Amino acid sequence: MIRQPPAILWRIVVRLSLTTLVAIVMAYSWLWWKYHSVTEVMRDTYLIEQAIAIRNQVTVRPDGRITVDLPPIQTASYAESEGSLRFAVRLRSSGAILAQAGEPVGPAPEMGDGPRLYRSNPDGPGPVLMFGAAVLLTSPAGELVIQVEESGSDFDAMTRSLVERFAKEGGWLGAPFLLAMLLVSLVTIRNSLLPLKRLSEQAAAIGPASTDIRLPEAQVPREILPLVHAVNSALDRIEAGFRIQRDFTADAAHELRTPLAVLRAHVETLPDPAIREALVRDVDSMTRLIAQLLAVARAEALTIAMDEQADLNAIAVDVGTFLAPMALRQRRMIEVIEAPRPCLVTANAEAVFNAVRNLVENALTHAPSDTTVTVRVEAPASLLVEDCGPGVPAELRERIFQRFWRAERRKSGSGLGLAIVREIMLAHGGRVEVGDRPGGGAVFSLHFPDQGAQRR
Ligand SMILES: Nc1ncnc2c1ncn2[C@@H]1O[C@H](COP(=O)(O)OP(=O)(O)OP(=O)(O)O)[C@@H](O)[C@H]1O
Ligand SMILES: [Mg+2]
Repeated sequence: MIRQPPAILWRIVVRLSLTTLVAIVMAYSWLWWKYHSVTEVMRDTYLIEQAIAIRNQVTVRPDGRITVDLPPIQTASYAESEGSLRFAVRLRSSGAILAQAGEPVGPAPEMGDGPRLYRSNPDGPGPVLMFGAAVLLTSPAGELVIQVEESGSDFDAMTRSLVERFAKEGGWLGAPFLLAMLLVSLVTIRNSLLPLKRLSEQAAAIGPASTDIRLPEAQVPREILPLVHAVNSALDRIEAGFRIQRDFTADAAHELRTPLAVLRAHVETLPDPAIREALVRDVDSMTRLIAQLLAVARAEALTIAMDEQADLNAIAVDVGTFLAPMALRQRRMIEVIEAPRPCLVTANAEAVFNAVRNLVENALTHAPSDTTVTVRVEAPASLLVEDCGPGVPAELRERIFQRFWRAERRKSGSGLGLAIVREIMLAHGGRVEVGDRPGGGAVFSLHFPDQGAQRR
């Protein structure tokens, strides 16, 4: 079994979903990283600003004592921070604390020229708990170090909750986007593939009897157009091949008619009546075969113009008149029952005449002597040929339409008549059916499509 690749639609849906997922994960990672780096910078800036603010408020009293006059809001924020925010002013040389707020700060960092950022862990080794900034102040009391420390937990908690909320609430923003994208792709692909479905239906109708069908190139997506072009030109070549074959059969049949006529004329001059009659019969059945072969070729090439019209009543009468002498010779009668009004169909009158003629010939052949063959026209567009013969058994009703098929090979007849009838009806977009006649016999019926219906 050939393993089919998955449907384009399915492939696109999977790929788009994956791409969107990757895009969302990447966007979130970037946001997460960015948020972290920004908060870190913000925290450090804040700590340095705090340290400088405190430095600006440091006053050295004449007695050497130090006071820090912070604005009340700032003082309150240190008091209410529950240990997460603290500061201290200490002597650089001895490290002695001269002023402080909140819990005790960690050891002073090595100071350089400018402000200094550091991390300290008041509880010994383990994760960093405090973030600190230190600045120097040169005062009459000596060099002072101002340290401001803040616990990272507040910042971390805030970051985490922000990111979590963002992921929970904002994360869903990706879902409608993905959904909209899938929906748009789905509709686009479905719409683009619609012409392909139509094309497949049309291609399914192409067969040996309908080689003139071409796939329409209008409204076909540009990607598929080369395929449609290729199929159409392949069909052109196939049709040309068929035509050559058909023409050959028609030409051969046509060319054989004259020598056969000459042969018959010669045979008729033979002195022995027994041999003469046997040979004439053979030549006649050969002539019939040639005529039927020509009719097959013509039926295959038949195309009906939209404006061609034929009246089934008139055709029934014509066939009846044409075959009446033959019927008389065979001691049978032909009855034509016309429809009350003209039965106009889009059809090639000559071809339909031939189809009906074949059916009536068959009926005359199979009907017993002294019976009547009925040609009945029924509105809106049907013609029936009824006989009182043996009828056609149900199991043979498909086979009798095959070329060269005959119930009795010994009897004369080429076995092409019903194949010609079927071909002609196909060309008209109609059908031929066989059934039982009430009271015994066969009914062959021709059904034409409603005016304007599609035909091959
Ligand atoms: N009205 C009928 N009643 C019974 N059998 C029929 C009838 N018409 C056709 N058949 C059967 O169908 C077969 C095929 O008919 P078809 O007309 O195709 O060929 P044919 O009459 O033998 O040859 P030809 O090409 O000369 O008409 C016949 O040989 C016959 O057995
Ligand atoms: Mg026949």
